[in-house]
Amino acid sequence: MLATTNFVVRGCVGDPPGGPLQADYLGDDDLLPALLASGTTAAFVAVGDNRVRQRLTGQLHALGFGTPAAVSGRAIVSPTARIEAGTFVMHGATVGPYSVVGAGAIINTNASIDHDCTVGAFAHLGPGSTLAGTVEIGQGAFLGVGTSVIPETIVGAWCTVGAGSTVIGNVPEGTTVVGVPARPIRRKS
Ligand SMILES: CC(C)(COP(=O)(O)OP(=O)(O)OC[C@H]1O[C@@H](n2cnc3c(N)ncnc32)[C@H](O)[C@@H]1OP(=O)(O)O)[C@@H](O)C(=O)NCCC(=O)NCCS
Repeated sequence: MLATTNFVVRGCVGDPPGGPLQADYLGDDDLLPALLASGTTAAFVAVGDNRVRQRLTGQLHALGFGTPAAVSGRAIVSPTARIEAGTFVMHGATVGPYSVVGAGAIINTNASIDHDCTVGAFAHLGPGSTLAGTVEIGQGAFLGVGTSVIPETIVGAWCTVGAGSTVIGNVPEGTTVVGVPARPIRRKS
């Protein structure tokens, strides 16, 4: 996805890749200080788990890296929307007027955020998920693929919304909800 932005990708660091990468694998995280010293000042955390992404972002900042936002050239972002640092806005995603997407969030492929929404830091809106107008998604919340949220609804911090669910009322912090309409479940895993 970074290939459709203005960034030049130097490579990936971290655990050895289990499969093909779209960029060169440079080595493990111990390489980061040398990369910074050689002039690579921006880094992106390509990790889906919201708590892990938050932790790794903090580590990058402590080392001195910046974590700019990366917005696909094939996303549509209103000129009045605000995308904060470290956020990915993937191909086909839409961010509507006066919406704010907090730091380190993922707005995945074809996700749609309508007007006046707030998406908290390190939240993840799964592929094809849809927020109607004036929705608030709390910090670290995860919306599974194809989730819908009706207008003026609050999904609390660190909630999980199951794939294909429709949220029609406020969801308290840390709750997992699934289904149409979305109802709380006790998770087995
Ligand atoms: C919600 C979710 C996180 C729950 O996972 P889990 O804790 O492992 O839960 P389980 O699979 O044990 O399911 C618990 C119950 O909820 C039901 N359930 C789980 N996910 C559901 C969903 N999306 N819609 C409706 N019911 C669901 C299960 O059928 C099960 O019901 P039962 O107790 O009657 O058998 C997971 O099912 C899910 O939807 N993840 C989203 C994945 C996704 O979209 N990823 C995108 C990555 S980019």
